[in-house]
Amino acid sequence: MGKALDGVRILDFTHVQSGPTCTQLLAWFGADVIKVERAGAGDITREQLRDVPDADSLYFTMLNGNKRSITLDTKNPEGKRVLETLIQHCDVLVENFAPGALDRMGFTWERIQELNPRMIVASVKGFGPGPYEDCKVYENVAQCAGGAASTTGFADGPPVVTGAQIGDSGTGLHLALGIVTALYQRVQTGRGQKVLAAMQDGVLNLCRVKLRDQQRLDRTGVLKEYPQFPNGTFGEAVPRAGNASGGGQPGWILKCKGWGTDPNAYIYFITQAPVWDRICKLIGREEWISDPDYATPNARLPKLKEIFAEIEHWTMQRTKFEAMALLNKYDIPCGPILSMKEIAEDQSLRATGTIVEVDHPVRGKYLTVGNPIKLSDSPTDVKRSPLLGEHTEEVMAELGYSSEQINALRAAGAI
Ligand code: COA
Repeated sequence: MGKALDGVRILDFTHVQSGPTCTQLLAWFGADVIKVERAGAGDITREQLRDVPDADSLYFTMLNGNKRSITLDTKNPEGKRVLETLIQHCDVLVENFAPGALDRMGFTWERIQELNPRMIVASVKGFGPGPYEDCKVYENVAQCAGGAASTTGFADGPPVVTGAQIGDSGTGLHLALGIVTALYQRVQTGRGQKVLAAMQDGVLNLCRVKLRDQQRLDRTGVLKEYPQFPNGTFGEAVPRAGNASGGGQPGWILKCKGWGTDPNAYIYFITQAPVWDRICKLIGREEWISDPDYATPNARLPKLKEIFAEIEHWTMQRTKFEAMALLNKYDIPCGPILSMKEIAEDQSLRATGTIVEVDHPVRGKYLTVGNPIKLSDSPTDVKRSPLLGEHTEEVMAELGYSSEQINALRAAGAI
């Protein structure tokens, strides 16, 4: 079966996490992704957080599947010429260098346009135009600058970053959407364009509901679904909401059987209004169904702490999986807190290809997260990441270089 992006060639100048997540997705959708790396060193993550001596790290292997790797010194004059050929040969250039690095290399937008007017140049940067545009940025900087950290954690503690890599992988996803959109527009216009995904913007986009709450707070001075209501105080900015639900359906994390020894023996419980009567029956508080102090969502808002404490008496007598099974029987929305160990061993995630085991010639078998987006006509076949420069000769030959020319470029240190 063909793939959605068959025939699309990507010049992948990305490194670390944000850019590589984007190009890995495009590769899973069928694009030919040619990762250009520095000879001898490669993407810095190849050697970061290594668990197997001399083997590419999991950091690298889990972000660079289905790609081809070539090594190229883009500061070498001969190497620059190879890069020019690559630009003419590819549809999209994706990069996440520090601001200005591509220009310093001599490849400005104007120069790239001269070489290939159809080329789409897609960039991840930490910030968009403005006072911080020249700054280098990593994941947690973006989480802090995009509004995630100030709204995550508990009211009596410091700002907290989340384990979900919303700054890096989140921005990679945004960029991938920008690229396929630009490819679609190119069908009409015949022209390439620049695509920019700034990490601060990507995080803020994912924190959209918190900007919603800021405006509600400005207008009313209170956020009734937040744990600060009714006994705490609200300041000028959206406070940290602990484990409160982000939407209009109050939720909280509750202890389950085993919580004293297992740090993940918890369940997320949502008191969804349409199933309120079922919740009351299940926990043995049927009188709450008709009691005007509990019967409506608005009446319940000032009592959420008390209500969740009562539900917790019920959840603490069951394991998270027992609670999940019982609650689902009554259509009550809930979710067990799954550890990474439980996720890694989950057979249903293996069956859908969301967790995949791949074999690597140096490190052996490893687990990776497969394509979370499933297309019925473009199935994903997850392949291992490439070794450094594994495909240099193959790609150079496709670009039209003879063996003699390849040898000469190698001798000149260009590849
Ligand atoms: N041949 C020769 N030189 C190469 C090369 C190649 N194949 N590939 C990269 N380089 C050079 C670049 O031209 C640059 O040189 P310059 O500084 O002389 O212009 C240099 O390598 C380093 O690139 P840089 O991006 O500055 O790397 P860094 O390790 O200093 O910074 C980041 C890393 C992530 C902080 C930075 O790239 C960044 O802010 N990127 C944008 C935001 C981002 O994606 N952050 C998230 C990362 S997960």
